[in-house]
Parts: sequence; structure tokens; C-alpha cells
Amino acid sequence: MGGSPGYHMVITRQQAVPKPSSAVRKANELYAELEKTFPVVDASFYKDLVCPKNWKDHPYDRWFKLKEGYSSYMVEHLLKEFKARPTDWVLDPFLGSGSTLVGARNARVKGAGFEVNPFLARLSKVKMHGDYDARALRARVDALFQAVAERRPIKIRMPALTITEKLFREQLDTLLRIKQDIWAEPDPHVRDFLALGLGCILERCSYARKDGNGLKYPKSKRPLPLVPTLERQYGLMVDDVARGIPSTDHLIVNADSRRIQAKDILREGGDLATDFLDHARFAIFSPPYANCFDYTEVYKIELWMLDFIKDYPQLRTLRDSSVSSHLNKQYDGKESFPSTLPDLDYVVDLIPWEDTWGKDKMKAMVLHYFEDLKAVFTRLHGFLGDGGTVVCIVGNSAYGNVPIATDLFLAEYLREIGFGKVAIRAARILGTSSQQQVVLRGNPYLRESLVIASP
Ligand SMILES: C[S@@+](CC[C@H](N)C(=O)[O-])C[C@H]1O[C@@H](n2cnc3c(N)ncnc32)[C@H](O)[C@@H]1O
Repeated sequence: MGGSPGYHMVITRQQAVPKPSSAVRKANELYAELEKTFPVVDASFYKDLVCPKNWKDHPYDRWFKLKEGYSSYMVEHLLKEFKARPTDWVLDPFLGSGSTLVGARNARVKGAGFEVNPFLARLSKVKMHGDYDARALRARVDALFQAVAERRPIKIRMPALTITEKLFREQLDTLLRIKQDIWAEPDPHVRDFLALGLGCILERCSYARKDGNGLKYPKSKRPLPLVPTLERQYGLMVDDVARGIPSTDHLIVNADSRRIQAKDILREGGDLATDFLDHARFAIFSPPYANCFDYTEVYKIELWMLDFIKDYPQLRTLRDSSVSSHLNKQYDGKESFPSTLPDLDYVVDLIPWEDTWGKDKMKAMVLHYFEDLKAVFTRLHGFLGDGGTVVCIVGNSAYGNVPIATDLFLAEYLREIGFGKVAIRAARILGTSSQQQVVLRGNPYLRESLVIASP
């Protein structure tokens, strides 16, 4: 699921439902009308699969518990339902922690994915690399801890991230020693494996916590000790690799999905890319949600400590390449404009933006959000053609106490772009900020759903 500052409380049906305002009534009437075109079925089977619950200790899913991730099992299940064949490719334009590729591999289907965040793209690459020798990895991990214990002089540079000291304090020295040994590893696949393991534990070993739109420093937080935590992390990663799940063809591109073109994929993937372009049949993914969640801010520990980002202009470029789901983007004066969906404009005009904490910036974020997703859907259509099946897992939002039924608007876009029949499976009801909770309690459109377009 696409990140959830305030979107994780399930509302129970028994609570009293307050009288809706006229704006909410008008929005609800529009949504009820749209549901005549896009049927919605209750699909609570997916309730615990669309968010990191229960499954987070599954092989591979457990490497890095992306708060916005879904279960790889859900992808495997969907591909089996759609009778995907080993020659088919499934595409995820928002890879995150790579659950789609892991699920595809378990279903013996080929998987391709794009991800703008280089740390997360690396996570997928290491998860999907089929050629690791578990015994050699174990020996290399032992050598790493041996080198750290020898306390050799530190020659590598500190990252330019200004909060590095604040994040790691007394463990910074050990962290730099670990990093120095990993960076000296000559085999690039082994180096990536080791660096990734380190990236996966950084938050837990720091004084910070990922929280909504950024990092918080709770006074009560006790960082986990680096060496034993990393030993455990490598232990579970090597155990998963040692299972020997047969590798399937896959393709991972660190790129902006709104802009990627076939030639970019061909440049990265050679013959595999040609096969993908000829046999792409499914897209299963969860985009960022329109909920002010800035992934580049939240993942900055991993991005900076592993040298994916070296200075602030690079961070700004990454932020501007990400989908407009947060308030840290620059719109160069293009703050308000009619969308290409009259229904969306109708709801946007019902929202009292001046009462929201982001005001007009929030409105710009929402309008650009839908424009960005339409651009990605258009690219998907280019890769899959009319015969493709799309499953988009998305959470609706609310601003100024008015629900935005993202799932229905995305359904409209999918149909407009040419993706055949579109229907919605509602996985669960979401909560919202405590202030809006009082007004919107029980609103059926605050939900997380699977929007499914099929030929
Ligand atoms: C909701 S998460 C995906 C979670 C994933 N389904 C999983 O299970 O781990 C959305 C992802 O989209 C990525 N993203 C945001 N903007 C992007 C863009 N323009 N192109 C590609 N990826 C982007 C974010 O970095 C984030 O990893």
C-alpha cells in the first residue's frame, strides 16, 4: 500500500455515522453514479495482503519492511487467477521493495519493473539475482565482521548528509568500518548484497524513525546494536538465497515511470528487453498514494549512507522525478489547471483547499498526482496493448473532509486509455487524520482497493 500517514486505522462499522456535509454528499453522489460503470465488490480476502501485515516475515518480503509494500503472495495469487504463462511478463512501474518480482518468480512468470529510488531498485536487483553461492556469502560475511573487529584505520569519507552524526552517534565509527570493508569487495554482486543488507538495517540502528512525511527522532528510541543486527540480517538473507528458488527472466530499470520509453528499456536489457516488449501481458503495482508522503525524504538514510545520493541537488532531482504525492515538489507556477477528467475537477472544486494545511500547494499536488498517474498508465498501455491486464492497488484520500475516490478516477483513466473492462475489488476501509475522522467516519469511499482492468 502506498504509504499511510494517518491511513492505517480501520474504521469499525458500529461507530455512529455523522451527517455528511453538502460537499461530501455531492462527492458521494458522483461516486455512486460512477460505481454503476465500474462495479465494486467487497474483497476482504486482500485486507491483510495490501498492507505489511502477517506476511512480513515471508522469505524475501522480510529483507526490508517497506511500510508501503504489499505481499508477494498477493501477486502470485493474482497471476495464478489470471492464468499467466511462463512466457508472459508482468510489469511493475513502482517496484518499491520488489514484491511483484518476487511474486512473479514464485508463480514462474517473468517480471519487469521500474523504480525511481536507486536504493529500492537495488533491493529488487539483489532479491532477483539468481546466482548467489550461499556458502561463499556466509564466508564473506564472517570475513566482514573479522575485518571490523580488527579496527583498521578508516579511510572512507563521511556522507555529506548533515544529520549523519545525529543519526548514528556512538555507532558511526563501527558503521564506517563496515561500509569500508563492503566497498572494498571486488565482486560487484557480492558487494551489492552486502551493501543492501547494511541499508536494510540502518533505520533500526539509528536514532530516527520513518514517520509519515519524514524522519522523526523519538526520545524513547534505542537504536539496535549494529553488528548483531547486521549478522541477523545477513543470516536471513543468505537463508532465503539458499532456498534455491529457480531464477526467472527479469528486468529492473532505475527510472522515472512517467517518462520511460522502449528505447530506455532496450538500452538496459538487450534480448530480455525485446522479449519483454513482445510478451508484456500484465501490470501489477501500487503507485504512491495522494497522501503527502515523500519517499525521497523518508528513505534518505539509505540513499545517503549507501552513496546513492552524494549532494543536495541530486536529492532535489530525485524528488522532482517522483510522482506528485507530496508537498516538496516544485511545480514552476503550474499550480492550478483543469485535469483531463471532468469528474475529478468537480470533486476538486468541492474541496475547501484554504482549510487544508497545504492550501493551494495541496490542490496542485492532487492535480499533478492524477496527471502523473495518467502518464504512467499511458506508457503501460504502450507496453501491454489493449489485451493487457492491469491491477492497480491504491488507497483513496480525503482533503478538507471531502473524500477523493482515487480508485474510481483511475478506473476512468484506464478505460479512457483503452484498457477494456474495469472493475474494483475493495480490500479494506481506511482511516484518515483524526480531525477528518470525526466528519468522515464510516464513509464507504475511504477505502483501499484493487482497480482491475482486463480485456
Ligand atoms: C507504494 S510504493 C510500491 C510498493 C511495492 N508495491 C512493494 O510492495 O514494495 C511506490 C513506489 O513508487 C516509487 N516511485 C515514486 N515515483 C516514481 C516514479 N516517477 N517512477 C518510478 N517509481 C516511482 C516510490 O519510490 C515507491 O517505491
